[in-house]
Amino acid sequence: MQRLEELWLTVSIGILVIFMIIIGYQTFALSMGPPSHKETLDPQKVDQHERFSEPGVKQIGSNEYEVVMTLESFAFNPGNLEVPVGAKVHFIMTSKDVTHGFQVPGTNINAMVMPGHIQKISHTFSEPGEFLVVCNEYCGIGHQAMSTTITVK
Ligand code: CUA
Repeated sequence: MQRLEELWLTVSIGILVIFMIIIGYQTFALSMGPPSHKETLDPQKVDQHERFSEPGVKQIGSNEYEVVMTLESFAFNPGNLEVPVGAKVHFIMTSKDVTHGFQVPGTNINAMVMPGHIQKISHTFSEPGEFLVVCNEYCGIGHQAMSTTITVK
C-alpha cells in the first residue's frame, strides 16, 4: 500500500471513530438520543390499563409533573393542558386507534404515538406562554384539525 493511501485510510477511520465517540457521548452521557422507549399495551383496552385509566396532569415531585394522555382520531385527551413554568414534565402517551403525532413547534417535543405502544417524552418549559400541540402524522380526514394547547405559567 502506498504511504498516501495509508494516511487517508487512517484519517477516514479516525474520523469515523471520533464521530462514534461524540454520538455515543451525546446519547448516553447527555441523554440526547431519540426517544426509544419500548413498552406495549393492548390498544383495545387502553381505558382499562392501569396507566391510562385516568388521563391527566399529576404532580409527582416538588417540581415534576406527569402528563398521561391518550390520542385518538382526532383529539388529545385531555386537551388544553396547564403546566407550571420551569417544571420537568413527563408526557406518557398512547394511541387508541391509528398512529398520531405529538409535536410542540418551537420545542424539541416531537414524538410518534402508535397504538399498542407507550410513548414517553420529557420536557421543561422554561418560558411561560401558550404552546400549540399538533398531530404531525396523517391520521385521517380530521388530521389537520387535531391540535390542542399547553399553557405554561
Ligand atoms: Cu392525529 Cu394526524
